Amino acid sequence: MPPEIIKGLKDVYLDTTTSSFIDGQEGKLLYRGYNIHDLAEKSTFEEVIYLLFYGNLPTKQELQEFDDLLRANRRLPDEVIQVLDLVKASHPMDALRTGVSALAAFDPEVTDNSTEATIRKGIRLSAMGPTIVAAHHRLRQGLEPVAPNPDLNHAGNFLYMLFNEMPEQETIDLLDVDFILHAEHGANASAFGARVAASTLSDLHSAVTTGIGVLKGPWHGGAAEEVMKMALDIGQPENAAEYCRNILDNGGRIMGFGHRVYKAEDPRARHLRERSRALGEKKGQPNWFKILTYVEDEVMVPYRSRGIFVNVDFFAGSIYYLLEIPDDLFISIFALGRIPGWTLQCVEQFEDNMLIRPLLEYVGEMDKEFVPLEERG
Ligand code: SDX
Repeated sequence: MPPEIIKGLKDVYLDTTTSSFIDGQEGKLLYRGYNIHDLAEKSTFEEVIYLLFYGNLPTKQELQEFDDLLRANRRLPDEVIQVLDLVKASHPMDALRTGVSALAAFDPEVTDNSTEATIRKGIRLSAMGPTIVAAHHRLRQGLEPVAPNPDLNHAGNFLYMLFNEMPEQETIDLLDVDFILHAEHGANASAFGARVAASTLSDLHSAVTTGIGVLKGPWHGGAAEEVMKMALDIGQPENAAEYCRNILDNGGRIMGFGHRVYKAEDPRARHLRERSRALGEKKGQPNWFKILTYVEDEVMVPYRSRGIFVNVDFFAGSIYYLLEIPDDLFISIFALGRIPGWTLQCVEQFEDNMLIRPLLEYVGEMDKEFVPLEERG
């Protein structure tokens, strides 16, 4: 009896979790029991990181102390800055992957996989991630990195280090929501990769490095950049239908649509849809939102019956573009938001571990006779 092959491990349950609840049919998402709609509109990324790490929303005092801890852990060792300078020509995701790897050499708890140490390392990596991405972006422009600003929150400090200017509060709030929406999402491909690393009892730095590598693919984290490239190629709303038809009729996919789990609208998308519209109006560039909504409300309507709706990435790219963030940094922003989620998935894996090692059904030739080299002609 041939074994059942579950390609892509589609609909396979790996384990239980208390990290996030995803109802793909309903389009519902909870982080630690709290609805993403409440978290996106009523909390901050710092509160969400605390929630993911400790399982409950912080009191004012707890949040203040946690925020202070994040702010105190943003600075990179000088040696890591030097490493980033050596790889300044690399893609920002490769730089982030390299920076996280390099940080392992300077973290005194790197081999401690206890829950407490893993969370402490997760705090450090969450705090330093933006510094790595911003420092690399400055170095690749031939500029000096900008030191973290302890007066700014997580999102504000990232923007400040990236552009070397004080960001507007509205922009800070936009990025804060974006980080919240990207923070955690169960056994997505990058979190699964991080779990595999944790399941061998490797360490959090290796697991987060793995997650960054997996997230880089356009079918996972790279979609936001591809969506904006599509919008730029389309140029005007009236071109959208023909442009998308050409892709779809040739078996291609419209980036920012579809999801392995959601067969209804990704509940995160609405929080970026309206913000994309408002930002486009504010920046005098309403065209991009018009193009995106034309794709969503005209072109892709027939795909809804097949459970293909917008996902979190569809509107994110237009927001980053309007904020004048370089397009190869879009995916890094996703990664910076997801470091807490990867950390939590690793905590869960470490706490009740079993080595993750699926099977492959061998369909090749069997028991071939070995021919010595000199007889192979
Ligand atoms: C993220 O998993 C997560 O949680 C990820 C994420 C997270 O927070 O971590 O939510 C973030 O990665 C969001 C997804 C970002 N990726 C994209 O937007 C890339 C475009 N989307 C697809 O490539 C696709 O939808 C996937 C890869 C995301 C999911 O694909 P599945 O579940 O493996 O489904 P599939 O590839 O088997 O497709 C089923 C059918 C196929 O048609 P048929 O072969 O059956 O005729 O749906 C079609 C696909 O061609 N399809 C699409 C489509 N996505 C699926 N057709 C057109 N456009 C699309 N975007």
